[in-house]
This record gives sequence, structure tokens and C-alpha cells, in this order.
Amino acid sequence: MQSVIEALLKSKIGLDVNSIGYGAIASAIYQRMADCGIKQISSYLAHLQDSPQEWDILIDSVIVPETWFFREPESFAFLKHYVLSEWLPKKPQGVLRVLSVPCATGEEPYSIAIALLEAGLTSAQFHIDAVDISKQCLLKAQRAIYDNYSFRGNHLFFQERYFESRNSRYYLRKSVKNLVNFINANLANPHFLVNTQVYDVVFCRNLLIYFDSATKEQTIHILERLLIEGGLLFVAHAEAALLMKTQFVSVRQSSAIAYKKLSNHQNLVEKTYTIPSNYKSTFDPQLPTQNRYQFPIENKVEVPPQKSEAANNLNTDLLELAKTAANRGCLDEAVQLCNDYLNQNQMNAEAYVLLGQVQQAMGDNEQAAQYFHKAIYLQPSHEAALTHLALLKEQQGDRISANLLWQRIYRLQR
Ligand SMILES: C[S@@+](CC[C@H](N)C(=O)[O-])C[C@H]1O[C@@H](n2cnc3c(N)ncnc32)[C@H](O)[C@@H]1O
Repeated sequence: MQSVIEALLKSKIGLDVNSIGYGAIASAIYQRMADCGIKQISSYLAHLQDSPQEWDILIDSVIVPETWFFREPESFAFLKHYVLSEWLPKKPQGVLRVLSVPCATGEEPYSIAIALLEAGLTSAQFHIDAVDISKQCLLKAQRAIYDNYSFRGNHLFFQERYFESRNSRYYLRKSVKNLVNFINANLANPHFLVNTQVYDVVFCRNLLIYFDSATKEQTIHILERLLIEGGLLFVAHAEAALLMKTQFVSVRQSSAIAYKKLSNHQNLVEKTYTIPSNYKSTFDPQLPTQNRYQFPIENKVEVPPQKSEAANNLNTDLLELAKTAANRGCLDEAVQLCNDYLNQNQMNAEAYVLLGQVQQAMGDNEQAAQYFHKAIYLQPSHEAALTHLALLKEQQGDRISANLLWQRIYRLQR
């Protein structure tokens, strides 16, 4: 009977039970049965089918609402760069439309609002929709009162400026609170935001990893539908591999995992969006507001990768070629290029991270974990390797190892 509830959770919210572990689902179900005073799982199933409220509560007990302000700060630095160097020059009178899904308790969409204000945009120049399936999370998001747990890392420049602090709690200022429009919806529903105008930027981070493979695929089509041609999609590190062989092409930047939606007639093989070499995503809180993020003067360049030429060049190009091959979905070729690169550069952690991602895309999680371990061995503070491994461990239900890795990442960011 428990498997019926698991199957229902899968069809209702796309949840892959393996991603959080059977134990976690079982304990959520038994806890709800105890709370409702129900002894038989069949009776609980009947209750679930009669009660949309019970569904909401069960969903709340199986979701993972973990989030914090400016999570992966490079994404927000890159958003600002994109808006100032690309979007604004093209649409000086426009309104930038941004979607944050899932938004959990609001830290992500509010970080987007703050980043856009810091970029110098006025509130009239952007519109942010933020969506989550959890009504409880959305209530918390709308209250916008946070504790220390929502603030991690060193770059807390925004805390003083955008929050009032009282009794160890942080109250987001109304001027930012009013900039986000919260919506309760289910991304696993094929009709998700079906009548909505397209967005210039979509943040869809740390949800695809919890979806079963059919829902992942369906969601990628939904994201393609919701994003304007040339628009930006941000995903989390562990989700990047899912975008291979899609209409999205990776934006090359060391840490932000950003993708651009190509138009239907652009050729995936020929177009690789490369950000300028002098782009620097580091956030420097010492600088005055407008200069805090360091951005290049020149605009983006688009470079078609020339395999034969590049392969004869420096070894680093082999790694770039491996990334290009991986982005095109040529996974065997990516592995070959990575191995060629590693023949000359045995100590390169980045190459092992890429090999890990490719193995994950090929469905070999054990091999992927070994490569991430190898990268961490070579470079113990490699944040992307630690993050990939933590998410992989979570996916495999190994919460203890995942938590140890999260703690390590957290310590690195402090
Ligand atoms: C780990 S949080 C991600 C928050 C934020 N994007 C981030 O990266 O920090 C995952 C959120 O996904 C939401 N969620 C789970 N399934 C969903 C679905 N089918 N549709 C919309 N939201 C969903 C959960 O309620 C939870 O708040």
C-alpha cells in the first residue's frame, strides 16, 4: 500500500522516491497516520484521496525546502552582468520578466530582486514571479521574516541594507517584499503556467534532482516553452547534465550554471555562447554599490568551436572541447577528450568533475561518485565537486555522507 502512495506522489508532484529515500517517505506517511489517528495504511490512502488538505500536508512533509539568500552567488553576479550588458541595451524601455521556480521560502526570488536593484534597475523595470508547490513555504515567503539559517557565506552586504534586524530575526523591507509575486503551482503539471507571457530569465534550481526521469524531461520542455529565445536559464550544478541535447546551450562561466535558449534555427553544434575572458564574477563588498560586481567592458562573443584547430592548440582546449562535446550530448566523445586531457594533466580536478557529470548523464552514479571523490582528493576545497557529490549522495539516500559534505561546503563559504 505504501508503494501506491509513493506512486501517487510520483504522478502528482513528480517525486522520485529514490531522491530522498524510501525511509524518509515511509516515516512521513507513518507520522501523518499517527497525527490523523489512522492505524491502517489503506484507510490513510482513502483519507488522502478524499482530502486535498491532507495532500498538501503530506507534500509538505516530503519536500526539501532547503534554501538561503544568494545561494551560489555567481548566478546573481552573472544575472546582473547579463542584464546590464545584454538585456538593457536591447530593451532600454522594457520590463525584465523573471521566474523563480521553485522559490521555497522566498530567499531566491528576493535575492533576484536585490541583485536587480543593485544593478541599478528601478522596480518598474522588472517583474518577478515566484512559484512553489508548498503553500506553507509560500506563506513563509510572503511573511519575509528570516533567521540566521537563511544567511550563509561571507557576502552578507545586503543584510543591513534590505532587512531590519530585531531579536535575532531579519525582516525584509517592504520595498523589496512588494517586488515578488508568489504563485502556488505544480511544475510537474504539463499545463504549468500555460497562459503566461514568456520570461527573459528563469531560475529553476534544486528541483529537477528530485524528479523522476519522465518529469525531468517534461519539465525541460516546459522551461523551453516559458523562456524567450535568447533568454537565460539558471540551474544547479547537479542539474547541468540534464540540459545536454536540449534547446539550451551552456554559458561558459566557471561557477554560474547558466544556459541560453537558442532559437529554433540556431544550430546547437555551431553555437557556443562564451562569456568574455575578462568577466569576473567575484563579489566585492568593499566597492561602492554600482561597482560591487566586476564586469567586463566588452560584450559577449559567440565562438563556434573548431575542433581540429583547437585540438592542436594548448591542452586546456581539450578540456574546453570535452565540455562542448558534453553540452552537445556527445558523451563518449566527451569522455575520450577528458581522458586525453588527463593524460597530460593528471592532477586537474576540473576534468574529473566533468567526467563525473558525464558519467551521471550516462546513468553510472557509482563511477560518477568516484570521479567527484578524485576531484576532491586533488582539490579538497573544490566546491563544485563537493556539491555534485553531496547531491549524488542525497539522491542515493545516503543522508549522512550528504550532510557531512554540506557542512564542509558551508564551512568553505564562511
Ligand atoms: C531545495 S528547494 C529549492 C529552492 C531554491 N530554488 C534554491 O535553489 O535554493 C525545493 C523546493 O521545490 C518545491 N517543489 C517540490 N516539488 C515541486 C513541484 N512539483 N512543483 C513546484 N515546486 C516543487 C518544494 O516545495 C521546495 O520548496
